[in-house]
Amino acid sequence: MTDLHGIKTSMWPERVTIIDVGPRDGLQNEPYILPTGKKIRLIEGLVDAGVKWIQAASFVHPKAVPQMADAAEVMAGLPQRDELHYFALIPNEKGYERARAAGVNNLALVLSATETMNRKNLNMSVSESMAIAEQLLRRAKSDGVMVRIDVSAAFVCAYEGVTDPEKVIRQSDELLAMGADQICICDTTGRASPQQVAGLFAGLRRKHAPQRLAAHFHNTYGLALANTVAALQQGIASFDASVAGLGGCPYSPGATGNVATEDLVNMLQKMSVETGIELDKLCDVSDFVKEFSGKLPPSAYYRATRVKQQAV
Ligand code: COA
Ligand code: ZN
Repeated sequence: MTDLHGIKTSMWPERVTIIDVGPRDGLQNEPYILPTGKKIRLIEGLVDAGVKWIQAASFVHPKAVPQMADAAEVMAGLPQRDELHYFALIPNEKGYERARAAGVNNLALVLSATETMNRKNLNMSVSESMAIAEQLLRRAKSDGVMVRIDVSAAFVCAYEGVTDPEKVIRQSDELLAMGADQICICDTTGRASPQQVAGLFAGLRRKHAPQRLAAHFHNTYGLALANTVAALQQGIASFDASVAGLGGCPYSPGATGNVATEDLVNMLQKMSVETGIELDKLCDVSDFVKEFSGKLPPSAYYRATRVKQQAV
């Protein structure tokens, strides 16, 4: 990227991939269960807006997350085109098998950087999750399946406080060496600072290409976009976001939604970074979210463009 004076300003990428995780990270944290047909309509709206990567569901225990119990039905009802990539989140081998039976070829295997979060979320230790990752990555290679590993609580854990970045780097090194296609560093609680983000990604970038890294920011403290810029400056070009800022984490008390896709796209457009996503159509999807959730989307772009302004 060059600035107004034609000087190369940074490692900022010229185009980024946005993965909308609203249908999974968003809906799993809502108090209602959205009917399958409306989930499919939500995803069709995203596709229509130009989103090509969508985390459509998770294959987890339906008692742990009842909102995702219809994952296979959702997957079966989605539009299929070569350029569309649907992801599903899985926690273990059973999730792998259920996702594969539903025809999913892109998986996000979740584990945590901290023991307490891993126990609360997955009922197992980090080393048990790492062993599952090793086994599933081997299996995925022979099945031709793409696996991204989502490392949750990578900056601040809701139970253990600040996460040691060296620990996250070692864990990511191990997972990439095991054959993970990509590692997604997740600020599950939304408590990361831009400095932490810059430091952790700078550490990871010493050994790993940017294509093997992704970022997932929640906006609990309003810092998701600042954290995105910090990651962009380290060359990261793959970001999760959630339409209308839907989301949270049932096992991270107090965490609010992911960065809103429309806020992320708006910022990137202003920075001349390509996303391939049409903002206006994205806001139509947020209108639909507003309708079924009964809540005004928290995203700044949506409020600035779709909510009648009142003079004071
Ligand atoms: N999908 C559906 N059922 C599953 C499953 C999966 N991915 N994994 C395990 N099960 C079933 C087992 O078959 C077993 O069933 P049975 O009692 O009929 O034999 C039962 O669950 C218990 O299996 P176990 O391996 O002991 O699981 P657990 O009770 O320790 O729970 C997880 C572990 C990982 C399945 C559960 O904690 C979970 O689904 N967590 C995901 C939470 C989440 O989605 N968080 C938000 C995303 S980050
Ligand atoms: Zn999340």
